[in-house]
Formats: sequence, structure tokens, C-alpha cells
Amino acid sequence: MEHTANHLAALNFYVDAGVDEVIGLQPVDRFAESKIAPAETVRAPALPPTRPPATSQPTSQPISRSSGQAQTEAEASARTLAAGAVDLVALRAVMEGFDLCPLKKTAANTVFGAGNPAAKVMLIGEAPGADEDRQGQPFVGVSGQLLDRMLASIGLDRTSVYITNMLAWRPPGNRKPTLEETTMCLPFIRRHIELVGPKILVFVGGTSATTLLERRDGITRMRGRWFAYPPTSGGEDEASAIAAMPIFHPAYLLRNPGLKRQAWIDLLAIKARLQDMA
Ligand code: URA
Repeated sequence: MEHTANHLAALNFYVDAGVDEVIGLQPVDRFAESKIAPAETVRAPALPPTRPPATSQPTSQPISRSSGQAQTEAEASARTLAAGAVDLVALRAVMEGFDLCPLKKTAANTVFGAGNPAAKVMLIGEAPGADEDRQGQPFVGVSGQLLDRMLASIGLDRTSVYITNMLAWRPPGNRKPTLEETTMCLPFIRRHIELVGPKILVFVGGTSATTLLERRDGITRMRGRWFAYPPTSGGEDEASAIAAMPIFHPAYLLRNPGLKRQAWIDLLAIKARLQDMA
């Protein structure tokens, strides 16, 4: 009896600490791994057939696992892979083969995107949660259900929008992605936007808004305002610029229901912009 209580206490401790997924049958001693890491190298994943010539590939070099250089190399690899992806199928394939982001090791699935890639509206959240990781689809958990209701309120659904995330892999315990993880995965989401080519971008929550618009403001200051994406474009008037609006993340709205009124105002602005384009 005491034995069972001890096990239950240990399990509760794990859940409180964010360990809420079983990802292997045997425990792995990561401390032991890192001790031998300097001598080891990892090879970058195979590139798709569309890749540029080998001479320009940072990915063809072995990467030292433990050095800060690994981050730079991984970023370079992601840039090369993303640039070589000619369509969404190719982009999904290179992301599924990209083993340099540490988040991929603990994730069950690569959550690529869902909805209609020909839609005018593309939504970008932060990163998959537990439900998304399990099902391999973005925004299918509780906050995804609220997002569906928000979309429905302005006449949209998953056949009329395309949905993805900044990161394709779930951060363990749903923690916030680190700057390194976000930076490493940036080339993928930028290419994803290029390949979908939406008329309107909706940044769902602060992470995608601040990262992709390269701003430091909080979501409360940014929500409901139109920005030009990419931020390096000459502004909304430039032909290639995409109209982009940050909105509150549905998970945030679930915790702060009083903010739904502001979210509603933002949704109406998106609806009006879409109607202007029709
Ligand atoms: N939160 C996100 O930002 N994205 C998801 O896919 C799910 C929850």
C-alpha cells in the first residue's frame, strides 16, 4: 500500500514538473550523454531533391553537438532546407527530417499545418500542445476549440483558413519556446508563409507576433493593429507585403474571459478587411 502511495506521489511530482508524456520505455541519462557529446558528431539530415549544389550546403558538414556553434550550424541548415523546399509537401518533408531542433527529440509528431493552403487567411500560433502533439494537427485541444468558435463568429472555418505554428514541435510540459528554438525554426515558418502566400496573416498570441514582426511590444499593445509582413518590406503599400494582425491567443482568453470583447473587435476588423478584398 505504502509502495503504491510512493509511486503515486512520484507520478504527481512528475506531472507538476511538466513531465506529462511517456516518450520511451527506458529512461535516458542525458547527463551521461552530454559528457561524451564533444567527441561525437551528428550529420545533418538528407536534403530534398530540390536542394542547391553541395558546395553551398552548411548541412553537409558534421556538427559538434555541444558547442554554441551547433546552434549556428542548425540555423544555417534550417535556412538551406527551407529555401530548397519548392512546395508545402517538400517543406513538410524537410521539417520531418530535421533532427537538429532539440524539441523534435521529445515530440511525438511534427505538427506541420492544417486547413486550406489556398485560403486568403493564414493563422500562426506558438507551438503544439499535448493534444496537438498526439494528433499531429495544430489547434485541436481546448484552445483550438475556442479558436474554431472565434473563426465561426466571422464566418470562417478550417476550409477557409490555413493554420500553423511558429514551432512544429511541442516544447516539453508546454513551456515557452526558448529564443534558440524559435530562431532555429524561423526559416521554416518564413518559407511556410511564402509558400501559402496568404492575403492576411493572423498572429495568434504574442510569440508569433513579436518574432515574425520583429517587435518587442506585448500582445496587449499589438493586438487589433495592422502591420506589414515581412517587417522589412516598405510597409503595407508594398505589393509583396501581407497585411498582418496579432490577436489574443485563445488560451489567454480562456484564462481572461473579460478580454473576449477586444478579441471580437479584432475579429470584426479581419472580417472587414477580407470583405474589402473580395
Ligand atoms: N497553442 C498554440 O499556439 N498552437 C497550437 O497548435 C495549440 C495550442
